Amino acid sequence: MGKTAEGTLLKGKRILLVISGGIAAYKSLELIRRLRERGAAVRCAMTSGAEHFVTPMSVSALSGEKVASNLFSLTDEAEMGHIELSRDADLLVVAPATANILARMAQGLADDMATTLLLATDKPILVAPAMNVRMWVHPATQRNIEQLRKDGVAIIGPNDGEMACGEFGPGRMAEPLEIIAAIEAQLGKPLPRHLTLVSAARPAPTPASVQPLAQGLKGRRIIVTSGPTHEPIDPVRYIANRSSGKQGHAIAAALAAQGAEVTLVSGPVSLPDPPGVKTVHVESAREMFEHCFLNLPVDAVVCAAAVADWRVAVEAPQKLKKSGDLPPTLKLAENPDILRAIATTDPKRRPALVVGFAAETENVVAYARKKLQSKGCDWIVANSVAEGSGTFGGDRNTVHLVRGDSVEAKASVEDWPTMSKQDVAARLAERIAEHFSASRRKKDKSA
Ligand code: C5P
Repeated sequence: MGKTAEGTLLKGKRILLVISGGIAAYKSLELIRRLRERGAAVRCAMTSGAEHFVTPMSVSALSGEKVASNLFSLTDEAEMGHIELSRDADLLVVAPATANILARMAQGLADDMATTLLLATDKPILVAPAMNVRMWVHPATQRNIEQLRKDGVAIIGPNDGEMACGEFGPGRMAEPLEIIAAIEAQLGKPLPRHLTLVSAARPAPTPASVQPLAQGLKGRRIIVTSGPTHEPIDPVRYIANRSSGKQGHAIAAALAAQGAEVTLVSGPVSLPDPPGVKTVHVESAREMFEHCFLNLPVDAVVCAAAVADWRVAVEAPQKLKKSGDLPPTLKLAENPDILRAIATTDPKRRPALVVGFAAETENVVAYARKKLQSKGCDWIVANSVAEGSGTFGGDRNTVHLVRGDSVEAKASVEDWPTMSKQDVAARLAERIAEHFSASRRKKDKSA
């Protein structure tokens, strides 16, 4: 894995993760994995409630460490007592933080291992609340949050959304990658603009002011292409490829979730249109090209479609018939390269950020660097589609983000771990939001 910014920041850091008893506890397992991927050492403490949602065995297996719980034995205490455990950490994270543990923290109670660790520490604490919306907006919880804020505890989330209990509103735990961004912010890295971290310096959340976190692309217009294209041979036959559109559709949804106004130009796929996205359905590369240009100008374009390179030069008006001994010969013509055309269009119409994909079977990053130049685009998301990678049609993806844009000054490569296509999409949307906020800061400085 390459050195990513987050990799270097979390490398060697010791995180003590307190898991309390909420349905969101399953996301803590993901959080442990993501932290460890970035080189952090994670020790975990669980409340007895948490053990109803995830088992100490899975937490221990993922963290590679014994779990501190109420069953913590005398021998363990002799090896590393709770005071040392909480002081040994660089940061304590409570995720999920239930209304109950927040109340106990606000009161300074130390009636189990988790709260004892939290009270015994002299290190920064970050909490990721997760609870039913009514519990979150209850004056008692808000009073406790206000107290914790005054005590210097940082708070990430909760997010708005549908909850396990079926209600909608603020109460969903922040996503693991958002919690990681908040942890990095505690360790000194600026927080991505779309995230809100409530800390001692910021006003407490009130029910009315709790905003969805992901709004870093508000006011930005973005086109995403997705799916395969179908190139007609005759009225019943076509040339196609195996693209499912899962990655492109997830990107459109993730950008929309960040507040962008997204137009998705999709080839034929069997996926539903993503919510909050204007979807234009096309069949062929030429239609995709036309609809992309019809929707310019925009701030950014993400070309994730697997556009067919060739089409049949002359589409037969009637179904081709078997006649004679020889099969028909198909003469091919090259399709327009949508990505290159947008990246090299008149500068007045060219989007500020043009992102392409490179699906390669070998030398993925080297080819991606070349592709940056040959296509004239700013970023390439490179992925391996080698046999056995499971990328085409699968739910997971391993990508490298190769950036050659002027804001970054020189080409940089980020190797991302294998993750779900949704997570790839969320991280790409996050990078795009960061890019625009960095460009804005640059502009403001030079103004
Ligand atoms: O040239 P290649 O197909 O490897 O390039 C892949 C990238 O170019 C992808 O971003 C794809 O969406 C885009 N592309 C395009 N139009 C084409 C061919 C590829 O937009 N005709």
